[in-house]
Amino acid sequence: MTHFISLADVTAAEFLDLLALAKQLKTEQKRGGNRPLLQGKTLGMVFQKPSLRTRVSFDAGMLQLGGHALYLSPNEIRLGERESTPDVARVLGGYVDAIMARVFAHNDIQTLAAYSPVPVINGLSDTFHPCQALADIFTLYEQWDGALAGHTMAYVGDGNNVSHSLLLASALAGINIRVASPPGYEPKSAVVQQARSLPSAGEITITNDPLRAVDGAEAIYTDVWASMGQEKEQQKRLRIFPPYQVNTELLAHAEQNAIVLHCLPAHRGEEITDEVMESPHSRVFEQAENRLHAQKALLVRLMAREEA
Ligand code: CP
Ligand code: NVA
Repeated sequence: MTHFISLADVTAAEFLDLLALAKQLKTEQKRGGNRPLLQGKTLGMVFQKPSLRTRVSFDAGMLQLGGHALYLSPNEIRLGERESTPDVARVLGGYVDAIMARVFAHNDIQTLAAYSPVPVINGLSDTFHPCQALADIFTLYEQWDGALAGHTMAYVGDGNNVSHSLLLASALAGINIRVASPPGYEPKSAVVQQARSLPSAGEITITNDPLRAVDGAEAIYTDVWASMGQEKEQQKRLRIFPPYQVNTELLAHAEQNAIVLHCLPAHRGEEITDEVMESPHSRVFEQAENRLHAQKALLVRLMAREEA
């Protein structure tokens, strides 16, 4: 693995190795602290959009591994505006040991990776959110005691960046995934095909029927109805998406002990109810914490010289 732009950058074996390393680093940290595997290393973090989890988990993760992270706000670099993206990649890559970027156009992160002399990590683009999916599957890995293949997850809502990465990550892990979205808001067919083509893939179902997706599922996942950059569509989407709300009624169709996931931030009362977010089924805050542990594994594999 040279970059982490999408889940297509890792093999199933590399993906499972990241999960195992995340578990090891999490255990080590909770027992007193991690070894300084990234001593003297710097991560440059370029943001075109706001963030809580991505920014803080990468920053804290680098520090816990003995390294340093540099936050570059949307006004700082102005990718492609103050300076061309290829020039930013080459200049920044001369100072830091890896670049993490959160962008609008997926093409921008691909350009960064094409020109950067150091590894590039996608901290969310309009098309993918691979770090989120890595943490999501790590949450299931803990939940299901390390055995992932053959389990079933339902994603209910917008066929967006989060759903795309979840499809690919589930396929790498052999998890059966069913995605239910309103007509016209399904995940991109190219991504669905890519997920289906992976040798490790389980069953992949794309439907407009939330009940069909959730029936007997062991995990239910949702995300906001309007993503960052789609604010103008918010009102229209509020009229279309209500049948896809994750609420107690929908949850009743899942497996009895099904868990509920959300990448956060959540719009309570829209894609998920307060009741479900606060219910014993919810793992959303464990999932958010797991961004830290999963990304530390990624940083170690991309940057560390010695074996972890
Ligand atoms: N889930 C996630 O990426 O959160 P942030 O937008 O706060 O980073
Ligand atoms: N789909 C959401 C995810 C936020 C973490 C967005 O892109 O805004």
